[in-house]
Amino acid sequence: MSALLKAPSVTSTLPREPGAAPSANPDAFRSLYEPLANGIPGGQERAAAADFLRDALRDTANGADELPATGASLVDWMETNMRSVHGQYQNYLQARHGGAPRRYFTNRAHALYFLRQVAPTKLVDGAWLYGLCAYADNPRLSDLVLTYLEELGNGDADKNHVTLYRGLLARYGLDPLDGVPDTHYQQGLIQLALGWNAQEFLPEIVGFNLAYEQLPLHLLITAYELNELGIDPYYFTLHVTVDNADTGHARRACQAAIDAAPRMDDGGEYWRRVRAGARLGDVGVGTLDVIRSFDIDQEVVRIFAQKAPAGHGAHSDFCKVAGRKVNDWLADPQEVPAFLAALEQAGWIRKNQPATESRFWNLLQGDRAEMFGVFSPYELQVIHDWLRGDASADGAAFEAAAGAHGTDGLPQLPRRPVSFRVAERLRQARAGRSGTAGSAAPAGSTSQWLDTDLSLLRERLPTLAPAEQRDLLVRAMSPALHWTPAGLVATQAFVERTYSV
Ligand SMILES: [Fe+2]
Repeated sequence: MSALLKAPSVTSTLPREPGAAPSANPDAFRSLYEPLANGIPGGQERAAAADFLRDALRDTANGADELPATGASLVDWMETNMRSVHGQYQNYLQARHGGAPRRYFTNRAHALYFLRQVAPTKLVDGAWLYGLCAYADNPRLSDLVLTYLEELGNGDADKNHVTLYRGLLARYGLDPLDGVPDTHYQQGLIQLALGWNAQEFLPEIVGFNLAYEQLPLHLLITAYELNELGIDPYYFTLHVTVDNADTGHARRACQAAIDAAPRMDDGGEYWRRVRAGARLGDVGVGTLDVIRSFDIDQEVVRIFAQKAPAGHGAHSDFCKVAGRKVNDWLADPQEVPAFLAALEQAGWIRKNQPATESRFWNLLQGDRAEMFGVFSPYELQVIHDWLRGDASADGAAFEAAAGAHGTDGLPQLPRRPVSFRVAERLRQARAGRSGTAGSAAPAGSTSQWLDTDLSLLRERLPTLAPAEQRDLLVRAMSPALHWTPAGLVATQAFVERTYSV
């Protein structure tokens, strides 16, 4: 049954017992993340998410947060943070212009690795605010609801943050997310758990939003270095602009914290809970941790180990390396490091040389490549940069080395890497048109979209009373659906109904 119309169940199978330590199950975060991210969770799943949040709040109770001691000086605090980040970014730019190397990404594979590893968080962008849509009539929550709607691009696919990230994954061949560690689902799970339990955790949502929507230095540097490596930085530059201190999400988050604060004396409880919510933004694996975790040797081994079950048995008996059949090498993924060493010894792999110097690479790419299509674009980039070694710091895309011959039949010269913006300008000039490339947005007008949830939405909506219509629209704006055709149409309808005068 469609996720849109499935009634919330109270008998769903839980991935773990409420309160159980997440580490007891190697997929603990992901197994709770999936039902919250990819469907309408049942009562038990929402309760498990609330338990998870209570555990996280307890675990972070004594941690530091960067919020001021009281809510009285929030705007000053935000502006001070913004000035500090801008100053640090200017220093970074000065260093780069002075010849310093990239601070984050050693090569293109490293940057793509980062985009892939943080995907579980980015694919639920904005989810912590979802639960407030049902309370959009309360003007004290309107800044939070508006922020959620902007995360959804107000129903415009080209501005929906999750759609944009999905576009990045598709464009650079980064999915499926096989091998992304369970811990990388923890922060996304925090966000989903807040979104599905707004009634219980409103002050924590306000605090999480306050901390999360402030401009971080890593956002600016990431956008700069992605562009430099020829990778579309729009998802990141968009966040630089929407989080601005004047009218953007950062400012709105301050106003939301002020608006939602109780007028009656609560003995400081609200602000304590806001600060506890702010600390939840640091739960899980942070941006810099992900960047530092890149080890290209390990990533190559992981990729080959992932392929081994499919490759085992796919080779003929004539395919031998170091006297052993390739099928036998691939029978046990644990043997991948030894297999790679054997390939290198036998001359199939030549490290620290152009990729095309390796016979193995020429099996993957180029004319008559016998293993063409076996590896995804991301995997090819990792193998390409691994083969090239330090030379991969130039950020060249694997396609630059891919074919021995161009479409004109002439040998291809290596292409000099150019930034994403320059490449886009060239592409647009050649195509004689403008537009965002690589979008995952459905093409054409909404009336042309073919989608099961959208059909159900269109069929069901006219038959319902106004309050039920609102419920259905809100359900279609949930993290699982808002980026789909049904979700985008529902978001547009919700905006129209809520804000039209
Ligand atoms: Fe966002």
